[in-house]
Amino acid sequence: MADTKKLFIKTYGCQMNVYDSERMAEAMGGAGYEATETPEDADMILLNTCHIREKAAEKVYSELGRMKALKTDRPNLKIGVAGCVAQAEGAEIMRRQPGVDLVVGPQAYHRLPEMEKAIRAGKKALDTDFPEEDKFEKLKSRPKAKRAPAAFLTVQEGCDKFCAFCVVPYTRGAEVSRPVDRVLTEARDLVERGVREITLLGQNVNAYHGAGESGSKTLADLIWELDKIDGLERIRFTTSHPNDMQDDLIEAHGTCSKLMPYLHLPVQSGSDKILKRMNRSHTAESYLRLIERIREARPDILLSGDFIVGFPEETEEDFQATIDLIKEVRYGQAYSFKYSTRPGTPAAERPLVDDAAANDRLQRLQGLLTEQQRDIQNSMVGREVSVLLERAGRDAGQMVGKSEYLHSVHLDAAGHQIGDVVRVKVIESKTNSLKGELL
Ligand code: 5AD
Ligand code: SF4
Repeated sequence: MADTKKLFIKTYGCQMNVYDSERMAEAMGGAGYEATETPEDADMILLNTCHIREKAAEKVYSELGRMKALKTDRPNLKIGVAGCVAQAEGAEIMRRQPGVDLVVGPQAYHRLPEMEKAIRAGKKALDTDFPEEDKFEKLKSRPKAKRAPAAFLTVQEGCDKFCAFCVVPYTRGAEVSRPVDRVLTEARDLVERGVREITLLGQNVNAYHGAGESGSKTLADLIWELDKIDGLERIRFTTSHPNDMQDDLIEAHGTCSKLMPYLHLPVQSGSDKILKRMNRSHTAESYLRLIERIREARPDILLSGDFIVGFPEETEEDFQATIDLIKEVRYGQAYSFKYSTRPGTPAAERPLVDDAAANDRLQRLQGLLTEQQRDIQNSMVGREVSVLLERAGRDAGQMVGKSEYLHSVHLDAAGHQIGDVVRVKVIESKTNSLKGELL
């Protein structure tokens, strides 16, 4: 097409942003844009942003500064900001960076094509509404092209938990679940396009309560519905809150063979005093008991977590309680952060921990978590795993995929194709991946 324009999207932050970027690319496909991998040949640049920590938000402004320079040579280039920074800062972004033409929040991005028309007409466009209409339905015109075998599917969005440090309830809004039939239609569509593994996404995905044929359905109900789809081999979900880990979901980990033995269950801290101040409404003990029950249902499950160190008024003793909890759980994967003050959240009013102490704690915590991850990865050597082949490796015949525990596995898989699930014996543990042999 002679007048096809090019769209470059840069995605920051969580997996939901990755999903949203795909939807935005599809919406703009309908408006005559095709994706490009390089900002230099783009007619429009869209930054899909994250506001979870200060560093993430600041990165956006420095990137915008760089992108603006491209406009000097290319006066028709348009620059847009989407995602959670767009939601949180709105018009302030255009004030700080006049080169920005468009700002769109995560609940309004189905309106992008209209907004694009406005900016082509020389206007600025801003939309940070939480509209009534269902953006997922508005974005239904999905292409039929083949796609990578592992996909994300958003089933729940927003959060009602209001942890004292977190911007999510403000940027993504109240907790909303998509109806079961719409999720299933999208899942079948993905499977027809070659998808073999679906990760169900939500800020608080295990609080899912989507409308079904006979009333509201739980996440476990949804998983069992997905389990019936031929050709779909693997189901995952993320992220979960300990308080929403219901019995039926724990049980599904033991009984649903398509549900992978991996669970991301953030605890944030091991100190009850800090957990209370974080408004987490669980204790270290209740979390540990929960882990025990999950392991009873699925003994080989790999656990992953999120941790914040240096939350306001955290003492060395509180920090030690987090270390003790980590030692008791043993995590195979983890994400840890130094507390970052987010304006407008309750914790922003509290006195900060000394920065050097917080940095020191983060280092010690990460040291322990890295050691646990390495030990668990090393313990895979000699075991048989199943691997979903996701891409070609560096050498001829070599392919790379993920085990059920989400470890990357490299192997010689001549004769197999991307999208195949193969049985593999793990023969070596490398820095960030495993090496395997076909069985
Ligand atoms: N500071 C540091 N880490 C944070 N997270 C959320 N908000 C903050 C903050 N203000 C972390 C939590 C959450 C993950 C997505 O990001 O650990 O689980
Ligand atoms: Fe943020 Fe997660 Fe707490 Fe919700 S449960 S407020 S998303 S940290």
